Amino acid sequence: MNIFEALRESHDIQRELSEKLLKTSGDTPERRTLFEQLKNELFAHAVGEDRYFYIPLMMTDSGLNITRHALSEHHKMDELLEQLSETEFSNPGWLAIAKKLSETVHHHLQEEEHGFFQQAGKILEDKQKESLAKQYLAEYKKYKAKEKDSLV
Ligand SMILES: [Fe+2]
Ligand SMILES: [Fe+2]
Repeated sequence: MNIFEALRESHDIQRELSEKLLKTSGDTPERRTLFEQLKNELFAHAVGEDRYFYIPLMMTDSGLNITRHALSEHHKMDELLEQLSETEFSNPGWLAIAKKLSETVHHHLQEEEHGFFQQAGKILEDKQKESLAKQYLAEYKKYKAKEKDSLV
């Protein structure tokens, strides 16, 4: 498995969870559970992706711009997750923020899969694509077992 295949597995989960989340309403167990799952998925994926995909790319001249762009979107998603955490599940405005998060997630994944991955494919060596996949997956699994809020 190469790094792109490994990253895409989580992308599919992110899309599915963010779409399901938009179908929830009010302070329900479904909304609470799906939100926790999406928050954890985005968190574990971003830790692994930042450390074992974007950092190595950032060390190259041609990878610098895509990396900055991607990291700023990770930050944007983090801020939206924080806003959602601070808003009551029963607040009518909750869904509007969730919608914004879902749109940001979809836009970001689209950009990665149809732009950044192609560019990174030309920058990284084949061997590196496989070793990064192993390192990413180990990190992803490790952080899936942790709570995002426990990091602070
Ligand atoms: Fe990603
Ligand atoms: Fe990403």
